[in-house]
Amino acid sequence: MTILVTGGAGYIGSHAVRALQRAGLPVLVLDNLVYGHRAIVEQVLQAPLVIGQLGDRDLLESVLRGERSASPIQAVLHFAAYAYVGESVVDPAKYYRNNLGDTLTLLEALVAEGRRRGSPVPIVFSSTCATYGVPEQVPILETTPQHPINPYGHSKRMVEQLLHDFGAAYGLPSVIFRYFNAAGADPAGDLGEDHDPETHLIPLALDAITGRLPCLRIFGDDYPTADGTCIRDYIHVSDLADAHLLGLRRVEAEARRLADGGDPATVKPAIFNLGNGKGYSVREVIQAAEAVTGRPVPTLVAPRRPGDPPVLLAAAAAAQRELGWRPRFPELEVILAHAWAWHQRRHPQLP
Ligand SMILES: NC(=O)c1ccc[n+]([C@@H]2O[C@H](COP(=O)([O-])OP(=O)(O)OC[C@H]3O[C@@H](n4cnc5c(N)ncnc54)[C@H](O)[C@@H]3O)[C@@H](O)[C@H]2O)c1
Repeated sequence: MTILVTGGAGYIGSHAVRALQRAGLPVLVLDNLVYGHRAIVEQVLQAPLVIGQLGDRDLLESVLRGERSASPIQAVLHFAAYAYVGESVVDPAKYYRNNLGDTLTLLEALVAEGRRRGSPVPIVFSSTCATYGVPEQVPILETTPQHPINPYGHSKRMVEQLLHDFGAAYGLPSVIFRYFNAAGADPAGDLGEDHDPETHLIPLALDAITGRLPCLRIFGDDYPTADGTCIRDYIHVSDLADAHLLGLRRVEAEARRLADGGDPATVKPAIFNLGNGKGYSVREVIQAAEAVTGRPVPTLVAPRRPGDPPVLLAAAAAAQRELGWRPRFPELEVILAHAWAWHQRRHPQLP
């Protein structure tokens, strides 16, 4: 049986494909390539790729039945989404249509396919710390109230609600992972972050180092933190990928329980924050980037961005306790070293 990875041509999804392949699991990628990279799937990962839109119900049905892979789809890792917070504010329709609407189509197709074969097709969903908005407390627990402050965060929060409701009504098993700041690259150096446009701090700092950007803008240095810049929780993308293998095991066990006659009325999503539980300020990240590369990061202080909380930090003990997840690369310097190795390989022409 095959694992479907939606958004597998993107940053985190491509690392999950690699983790699945290393675990010996057959994979199929579905991606519309709006932001993903065909060459990463076909040449680097050498995984089968279906190019298409998640909201295409006919396509989804044929994928789930196994018409595009050697075997039917056993479970789904659902990464596909648009994830630019600022764009979601100016074009919310794009975000609700894609992140919410297309995911609703996916969930309906999963329920229909599960009924057809008499056993559920479970899902692991990529949610985000953006669903917490400006949190009432840090570190943020899974039970911390969610008050998203932009359409992107709302779209993810709404999908979480769908998963609750589809679990209760249709017995659809799910795991919800709320990632903090994904960062770094596969230690092999041939996979990494390649967004266009790029909005994440670490690749932007590396771009400033190599001159792809004239300088790195620091959005606000007057926050109530030790050095005045925002503090975030950076989690290595390969550690996120590892968590997905454990999440997969968890939803598959739930699917087996249901297939064996378990009560579908008791199905609800298992929810986990994925972070290191340790925060670094923007200035600390810049210093680490300078230490790892041995080169200066030119910077410019810019005004605060609306809606940027001073501190976002995960309480991630639940994933460690309940799934046995152990991040392998928690150190910021290691995250940066892997990102730097990838950056140099991705842009060999740069100084
Ligand atoms: N990167 C982070 O720090 C972070 C943090 C929290 C949550 N997330 C979530 O993790 C997931 C992956 O993030 P990423 O950084 O890898 O993003 P990404 O943009 O690199 O990858 C997403 C992929 O999904 C594809 N896609 C989007 N909508 C699609 C659709 N309707 N049909 C088919 N393909 C579609 C894109 O082409 C892209 O390849 C997203 O759901 C994002 O919201 C990311």
